[in-house]
Amino acid sequence: MNNKRKVIIDCDPGVDDALAINALLLKKDIEVLGITCVGGNRPLEYTYKNALRLVDFFNSDVKVYKGVEPLSIDPNIKTSFFHGENGFGDVEIPYTTKNLSDINAIDFLEEMLLKYPNEVEILALGPLSNLAALILKNSKAFENVKAIYSMGGTFSMGNITPYCEFNYYFDLKALDIVMNALNKNKVVFHMFPLDVTMKVYFDVNEFTFLRYEGGKWGNLVADIFENHYLVKTYQAIGKTFCVLHDLVAAMYMFNSELYDEVKPVKISINYEGEKRGKMSQEHGDTNIFVHKEVDSYKMKEAYLAINYDEQVIKKYRNLNKS
Ligand code: RIB
Ligand code: CA
Repeated sequence: MNNKRKVIIDCDPGVDDALAINALLLKKDIEVLGITCVGGNRPLEYTYKNALRLVDFFNSDVKVYKGVEPLSIDPNIKTSFFHGENGFGDVEIPYTTKNLSDINAIDFLEEMLLKYPNEVEILALGPLSNLAALILKNSKAFENVKAIYSMGGTFSMGNITPYCEFNYYFDLKALDIVMNALNKNKVVFHMFPLDVTMKVYFDVNEFTFLRYEGGKWGNLVADIFENHYLVKTYQAIGKTFCVLHDLVAAMYMFNSELYDEVKPVKISINYEGEKRGKMSQEHGDTNIFVHKEVDSYKMKEAYLAINYDEQVIKKYRNLNKS
């Protein structure tokens, strides 16, 4: 029996998911109970394979679980291949199925939450389809969760419509189920919307730094980001950087002092017209915390320190001085 924090990562890898998964697999005080996959950046058939690529890359024995198909789909969503056809910038990365479980993700989530009441934390990095399916299957198991850290939503700019963020908009029925449950129960839910995640990115200098100083993982990160995500970002907003959305949610788990302290809110969702999916928040008797601020540089340095020693971190500091 170890006293490590028990965490399940629910994700749609996706290149920014990969950084978050890397961080948790390497953190010594974290026991990743499993990685549950969902469709989003690319269909589930792609995302679970990318999770397998990562556990193989890090020689991890963490099991990967396939989740549900979306509970709802907007037929107008255009797959932008932001993350490439294979979801990892179309970089060829081998994988095996030795860590693929034949248990479905919802049964796994339910089993872990019933086995470890108020001990399991969930890092949710994709659409909320699996969490919604768990609520429908066993809402009591869902309420056993210790805390959820979710990248998603927006209260300012959108990235899939002018009013909505990709993860939450991708499966609106799932969003509705999860937010209705959270507005009523006392589940601790830390939300990291675009308002905070858009402030954290690696630019072309940092990708070059990762290539020269980051070893095998640094080179792979530069490859999977620069092939598509960087190009698509430049085409979309004329910037030569890549936003690290999912890493912002992950790093809160280890460095919450770098983020704003916020009061709990109730979440409302609009379902009509062109602003369909738009979220609003108001003070509420919940445990939903919507974060909007983070010390971007310190968060990135804290992430790099999980992978690299002080010598490399000193070089990163110098990079940012020049
Ligand atoms: O809107 C950003 C989110 O959508 C991130 O989780 C990214 O991986 C994509 O899933
Ligand atoms: Ca994601």
